[in-house]
Amino acid sequence: MLILGIESSCDETAIAIVRDGQEVLSNQVSSQVKLHARYGGIVPEIASRKHVETIHLLLEDSLKEAQISPQAIDAIAVTNGPGLQGGLLVGITTAQTLAWLWDKPLIDINHLEGHIHACFLAHPEIDFPLLVLLVSGGHTELIMMTDHGQYKVLARTRDDAIGEAFDKVARLLDLPYPGGPQIDKLAKLGNPQAFNLPIAMKNKPDFSFSGLKTAMLYTIRDLQESNQPLPVEDLCASFQEVAIESVVFKAINYARKNKIQQIAVSGGVSANSLLRSKMMQRSEKHGIKCFIPPLNLCTDNAAMIAASAYFKWQKMPRDSFDNLKVYPRYPLDR
Ligand code: KG4
Ligand code: ZN
Repeated sequence: MLILGIESSCDETAIAIVRDGQEVLSNQVSSQVKLHARYGGIVPEIASRKHVETIHLLLEDSLKEAQISPQAIDAIAVTNGPGLQGGLLVGITTAQTLAWLWDKPLIDINHLEGHIHACFLAHPEIDFPLLVLLVSGGHTELIMMTDHGQYKVLARTRDDAIGEAFDKVARLLDLPYPGGPQIDKLAKLGNPQAFNLPIAMKNKPDFSFSGLKTAMLYTIRDLQESNQPLPVEDLCASFQEVAIESVVFKAINYARKNKIQQIAVSGGVSANSLLRSKMMQRSEKHGIKCFIPPLNLCTDNAAMIAASAYFKWQKMPRDSFDNLKVYPRYPLDR
């Protein structure tokens, strides 16, 4: 089954074509990062306008890269939440138009479910039950997955998402947007023990990052007031160590206590080099298999949406053409 996936929930416009939830024939992504960088964050109105300008070009490129004609496509899949309303509307309008024009069924996909299926694209051998650590710009969740489409959210963040914390701390340090990759890069040059920062809610199931963010704010302010040059690398390394350790600790702890043998890590922050190495090392130590997608499938893309749609269609063939709505807030276990 050939599925054309569309993703436009945030600041990436993406169109991909995937066969049987497994074989990526094309994966076109156009990032708006440079456009938003000057504002220090995503401007929703600019994002939706750029999606409109870009999406049809990506469609052409994606069909060309896959070397297939529209007739060969079996279904169209599109992200309908969570995300920015304007961007989501561009995606679903494009999807509905193509579904009508080419007479294909339309499959709506939760963006978070897409991130999870990026792991299956890269690692078809994954089995259930699976513990998923979902870490992105908008979400930090620990999820128990017992089958495709069967999710139980075990823990979520009480305040900021981990990616949001990376981006906000980067802003405090005057680093360009998006801050996550910048902190990751600079942290490699710093000492992770240079500053003593708190791990919030270590013995509770949920996550929290606002205390860590405030601790960074005060640490940076104190350094500035004492007229010392900012040790940016050490600050990045210390912050990253605590932020990453807090999610690694909870995921591994839960898996060990509940004898879960497999963990998948997904979402934009799963591109973080420290998270990747800590998860692999800690899992191996405890005899747990850990699956993390390659970097190009960690951040937003449409291959994960097409893959997710394949599994959804196998379980529940349902054309969402008539009742497709966007959900800016869209919990996975709704
Ligand atoms: O999944 P994603 O592309 O979009 C959402 O669904 O939110 O995640 C974007 C987030 C941003 O906060 C970005 O700073 C973070 O992922 N990110 C990283 C890294 N690469 C992307 N955070 C830490 N280290 C990275 N290498
Ligand atoms: Zn995402």
